[in-house]
Amino acid sequence: MNILITGGAGFIGSNHVRLLLDQSDDRIINLDLLTYAGNLENLAGLEDNPRYRFIKGDILDRALVRRIMTEENIQAVVHFAAESHVDRSVEGPEVFVRTNILGTEILLEEARRAEVDRFVMVSTDEVYGSLGAEGMFTEDTSLAPNSPYAASKASSDLMCRSFFKTFGFPVIITRCSNNYGPYQFPEKLIPLMIANALEDKNLPVYGDGQNVRDWLFVGDHCRAIDLVMRQGKVGEIYNIGGCNEMKNLELVELLVDKLGKSRDLITFVKDRPGHDLRYAIDAGKMMRELGWSPTVDFSTGLAQTVNWYLENRAWWEKIRTGQYQEYYNKMYGSEGRHDASMD
Ligand code: NAD
Ligand code: TYD
Repeated sequence: MNILITGGAGFIGSNHVRLLLDQSDDRIINLDLLTYAGNLENLAGLEDNPRYRFIKGDILDRALVRRIMTEENIQAVVHFAAESHVDRSVEGPEVFVRTNILGTEILLEEARRAEVDRFVMVSTDEVYGSLGAEGMFTEDTSLAPNSPYAASKASSDLMCRSFFKTFGFPVIITRCSNNYGPYQFPEKLIPLMIANALEDKNLPVYGDGQNVRDWLFVGDHCRAIDLVMRQGKVGEIYNIGGCNEMKNLELVELLVDKLGKSRDLITFVKDRPGHDLRYAIDAGKMMRELGWSPTVDFSTGLAQTVNWYLENRAWWEKIRTGQYQEYYNKMYGSEGRHDASMD
């Protein structure tokens, strides 16, 4: 099968490209714009694989997308490309609307025109909004996105739904919880805390650190997406979760202890505006209908992840200089939104 992966130079996309090249005979075409989050080093070693082609380009470039669909005879699309960081969406929502909503719509139209057999939309549990202390998100939970990021993903999900309902186009939506693992950009909680701790920098915990996330190892997520692409039912939504809820503060303490650093590095900073309290996924449908379940327990996954960041210091150190440093200073510096004065 010829599979178009969008956003395959990012965190989850690059893990997915590796999984497909390792475990299938499929031909993989990776379309990625290489924004700040896209990094060809995530795909190092794959350049000479005859089943793999990288194309630097924008999902908003309709002519390019059309050409790829026909020239490469695309049969399935797995759509990862997105602006993915909540804090950046608070600072500047426009690019989220362009990439996540309009970009998805262009891909859908061109995939439909090319009569592809499967379109997997990689979405997020954040479209459901926030939970209180009890309950879990199911596929029937109503949409209540709170951040511009979540609103843009909910919009792209609805566009996908409309293509199924209106045109019978074979779309499937997956909604997963927070991923962690190798190649995650160090603006997200786990890699940021690992890198800061290794450099003996402050560990900025938003608010009181009592927010809960449900952590899913990226390899388990990629296996789930692949099952959905091959065996999922078109028009359906599948929730994918790690069955592993944890409060942010507990997680940061665990990381600090694992790294043998002092908990004094933990600094409580001004909260994220609109910060969702808790996410928890009911992944029962994936388990019942597709026989999937997470295989990597959290302590194993976290140990693997910490080791990866220890062994690949050059990868994240390079990222943390230059443009990313400007972002970090803007967000976390003394004038930044997340500075340590909790007024
Ligand atoms: P990421 O930010 O690491 O990677 C996004 C990739 O998309 C980058 O390689 C970037 O260059 C590319 N991209 C951005 N705009 C593009 C454009 N206009 N055209 C082509 N490529 C473009 O993101 P990630 O964490 O790997 O997430 C992948 C997908 O999974 C996203 O759709 C995200 O919403 C979803 N998701 C992620 C998580 C998570 O925990 N990371 C959780 C739920 C859902
Ligand atoms: P993040 O990795 O940005 O994922 P998401 O917002 O999509 O869940 O954040 C995970 C949690 O960690 C979230 O509750 C916000 C919190 N957080 C911090 O406390 N400090 C930080 O520096 C970051 C980036 C996140």
